[in-house]
Amino acid sequence: MKDKTTILSLEKLNFGYGQIKALKDIDLEVKKGEIVALIGANGAGKTTLLRVLSSLEKMQDGKIYFKGEDISRFDSTKKVRLGIAQVPEGRGLFNILSVEDNLLMGAYLRSDDEIREDIEYIYNLFPVLKEKKDHYAGTLSGGQQQMLSVGRALMSRPDLLLLDEPSMGLAPIIVEDIFEVLESLRKKGVTIFLVEQNAFLALEISDRAYVLENGEIVMSGDSKELINDDRVKEAYLGV
Ligand SMILES: Nc1ncnc2c1ncn2[C@@H]1O[C@H](COP(=O)(O)OP(=O)(O)O)[C@@H](O)[C@H]1O
Ligand SMILES: [Mg+2]
Repeated sequence: MKDKTTILSLEKLNFGYGQIKALKDIDLEVKKGEIVALIGANGAGKTTLLRVLSSLEKMQDGKIYFKGEDISRFDSTKKVRLGIAQVPEGRGLFNILSVEDNLLMGAYLRSDDEIREDIEYIYNLFPVLKEKKDHYAGTLSGGQQQMLSVGRALMSRPDLLLLDEPSMGLAPIIVEDIFEVLESLRKKGVTIFLVEQNAFLALEISDRAYVLENGEIVMSGDSKELINDDRVKEAYLGV
């Protein structure tokens, strides 16, 4: 295996919807404690990559390693147990469950006695969720729903958090709140793999980034360098 600080690595990952190739020979690495971003236009294959990673799509070809272990054939439950949690595109909440019950759903694989403490920890991260803890998730604003989706993922105590476009459809001020929480999570030791169409935001917060075009990684590097790269500027930053 790779050097021991690598938490996630993908090797020659391929995926197709029938004949349509959505992911082509993806090689990618995330190190412990990093925030790594995957940027790319609508339809590039970002969601597909996350879904394959968390086994919401069945793995076809290639390898996925997590903490040095080959998890290519693991199902989604097994991956959650190992420490991978996903904040899915569209948030995936249970609309007619309360905020607190959604958080409890995130802990469904746990049997320890610290679940209550972790709920308080989430309420600390996102105080508005405490105010609304008895409300149906479906009645929350978009930003509050995104916070709840992040909170629910954290309830499995992940080492690696996968996020699919957390900024989607949200006002900039709300996005700022959510991204601040991501930075504080990283300080607490959570590794973050962030998928974003909003390249500027993603490059600002991340250490390294990969650029996905038509299912292929076409560029990668330090985010600070990518943000100043002429091709990235032109294609993704609109400058
Ligand atoms: N369930 C599906 N069946 C067939 N094609 C799909 C399906 N989901 C996504 N695709 C196609 O796969 C490609 C990548 O989509 P997606 O991963 O959603 O991209 P992104 O998240 O970057 O917008 C697109 O061409 C899309 O139309
Ligand atoms: Mg998507």
